[in-house]
Amino acid sequence: MQQLSVRLESVFELVRESRSVLEQGRVIDIGSDHGFLSVRCLEEGVSDFAVCTDIHEAPAQKSKGSLIMAGFKDKFTVMVTDGMNGIDLQPNDIVVTAGMGGLNIIDIFTRIINDSDDQSLKRCGYVIQSQKSTHLVRRFFAERGFIIANETVCKDRGFFYNVMRLEYTGIPYELSMRQSYYGPCLLKNGDDLTKEYFAHLDEIFAVRARGDEDIRSMLEEEHED
Ligand SMILES: C[S@@+](CC[C@H](N)C(=O)[O-])C[C@H]1O[C@@H](n2cnc3c(N)ncnc32)[C@H](O)[C@@H]1O
Repeated sequence: MQQLSVRLESVFELVRESRSVLEQGRVIDIGSDHGFLSVRCLEEGVSDFAVCTDIHEAPAQKSKGSLIMAGFKDKFTVMVTDGMNGIDLQPNDIVVTAGMGGLNIIDIFTRIINDSDDQSLKRCGYVIQSQKSTHLVRRFFAERGFIIANETVCKDRGFFYNVMRLEYTGIPYELSMRQSYYGPCLLKNGDDLTKEYFAHLDEIFAVRARGDEDIRSMLEEEHED
């Protein structure tokens, strides 16, 4: 079984959850690098085909190597491309972007949304793990009509990561500032790790509020609640 880091294991768990509300189909692993996530999805039957993309040739070759080594010669394609350029969505695809900056994810999804019709977007699942600018990612997806069906937090080698599972409804909505920064699902989750994550965010935001008006308004909004 392909071993994954704690972070990627959390991503995998939400891919599995996404599959549980879809029929069998492909995983599209954007920025696949080593390809470990795709290997694990195929091993566990969470997907029957993997499409790996990477913007660079060397990681794309790594993905290819991992999938061949794991015995999935006929069950994948690897493409060197920016995001999902050149790939059309198919029903029951699960599109994953993990380990990338939020602005990159927004750029990739702006193109996916522009290139796909509403019905295609509705028939797929999405799992997003951004390394930074997560509040902008949440806001972007809300404005574009994606609900955050679930969000989890994990701690990997001392760093917190959050992973979101999205579904497309096509109905845009607004998140409050607090929901953008802390996550609407996480705000409803009282588990110990989420509490620890929020305490960590509180510390960061207290410092950043001095020079960041958005964070200042978010903290003021919190006090008005
Ligand atoms: C830090 S790695 C993350 C790999 C894996 N997804 C993970 O979570 O462990 C980011 C990968 O995304 C690729 N990448 C960055 N921007 C991309 C883009 N616009 N389209 C496709 N791949 C991209 C990089 O080349 C790199 O291999």
